[in-house]
Amino acid sequence: MAEYHEAPANATTGQKLLNWVDNRFPLSKLYNEHVGEYYAPKNFNFWYIFGSLAMLVLVIQIVTGIFLVMNYKPDAAKAFESVEYIMRDVPGGWIIRYMHSTGASAFFIVVYLHMFRGLMYGSYRKPRELVWIFGCGIFLCLMAEAFMGYLLPWGQMSYWGAQVIINLFAAVPFIGPDLALLIRGDFVVGDATLNRFFSFHVIAVPLVLLGLVAAHIIALHEVGSNNPDGVEIKAKKNAAGVPLDGIPFHPYYTVHDIFAVSLFLMVFSAVLFFAPTGGGYFLEFNNFIEANPLKTPAHIAPVWYFTPFYSMLRATTDLMVHILSAILLIAAVLAIVRGGFSAMGKLIVAIGALVAVALLNYFDAKFWGVVVMGGAVIILFFLPWLDRSLVKSIRYRPSWHKYLYGVFVFFFLILGYLGSQAPSDVGNYVSQLGTLVYFGFFLLMPWWSRIGTFHPVPDRVTYAAH
Ligand code: HEM
Repeated sequence: MAEYHEAPANATTGQKLLNWVDNRFPLSKLYNEHVGEYYAPKNFNFWYIFGSLAMLVLVIQIVTGIFLVMNYKPDAAKAFESVEYIMRDVPGGWIIRYMHSTGASAFFIVVYLHMFRGLMYGSYRKPRELVWIFGCGIFLCLMAEAFMGYLLPWGQMSYWGAQVIINLFAAVPFIGPDLALLIRGDFVVGDATLNRFFSFHVIAVPLVLLGLVAAHIIALHEVGSNNPDGVEIKAKKNAAGVPLDGIPFHPYYTVHDIFAVSLFLMVFSAVLFFAPTGGGYFLEFNNFIEANPLKTPAHIAPVWYFTPFYSMLRATTDLMVHILSAILLIAAVLAIVRGGFSAMGKLIVAIGALVAVALLNYFDAKFWGVVVMGGAVIILFFLPWLDRSLVKSIRYRPSWHKYLYGVFVFFFLILGYLGSQAPSDVGNYVSQLGTLVYFGFFLLMPWWSRIGTFHPVPDRVTYAAH
């Protein structure tokens, strides 16, 4: 038990109250550890605002969600009209609903930029692996949360989108059909599905999400923030043990973040008031029509933040499986000829490759599509061990690494665009190329991240006062 401290005789009432609390709960200690005496690198740039913005959007989603639940009815016969009721009759209901639906897209924009920052500055590298892994867990939860939330308004896209995605699980060998049945709770998407999605969307997933966000911040504050130079500021401290390049989070970064929050709220409000559906990207037009199990919409597409992964799913056709088999065989031959393996090693590589090719061709391409789509997210968890670069930050990597990152982002955006469009032959070939680029970027990273001429990393962070 911590020692009891008496407040000084001349303390103000406020100080006495704080002293009373501190003797029972580590309030000042927590504040100092995470805010007042949390020393962050002084060279944070624009890319470092997205963590705070993600927290802001999280709060917006939870608060607006609480108010939505007050009038929403999780019942297939009433859900659509209860949302219409919120939009038309509940005072302020329309803005609460649009804040929540636009907030979902804002969340993904902010989180994608936040992740990209991590990618650029190597923020997932030692000692921040767990910060990254908790982040990937957050990303998975966000996807589940958004997918289940989209079913709730019970519009045409809610219904058919869920139908398509849940049917994918049926492609899993052996357990697939039972798994799809378990998720749906019925043989078609229906009231049972709506009820279980509601339960997960409002309580189960948010609880996990909040726990993961807490773990994410605790892990980050344990090791300290990275920065655009990728230099560890804890390596150089003054006599008092304060990093020479560190500045206290408050007031320096509270001001920085308040400025970012103001800008964000301006843009967010502009979208809310002038384009709440985001031109059909944030809320699809078909979702303003009530779900009709007898009428399939001509074109079913998920919301934009899922489309890069949806494109990869659609790109995994029989042709793609053949291409993957060929790539695997070529890689195995190269490994055998040039890999320097022993005779036993070569035999293992050869057998491994043959078994992999046999499996690839044994199961349906649809199943591999599901594996590719899931794998595209799961691979992110392994990033800390895939990147073998000599330096963390993109600033000191060989210049061509920047172009490679550019190509990766370009194809990710193209995949996103194609996933929102009706399928076409050309679109499909481009998606297949995009899928190969996406996986090639990560799977070949242990090789390409080491090659090229690296620039010397400075001892201290670079910072120019403006
Ligand atoms: C609800 C979602 C999230 C919230 C609220 C959140 C919050 C934060 C905050 C407040 C910071 C410190 C400020 C900053 O560096 O921007 C941070 C840092 C970080 N986050 Fe997140 N985060 C979220 C999602 C993610 C995801 C999905 C990933 C990656 C998969 C991720 C990876 C990281 C990394 C690597 C850092 C350390 C960055 C550095 O020190 O350079 N975060 N996060």
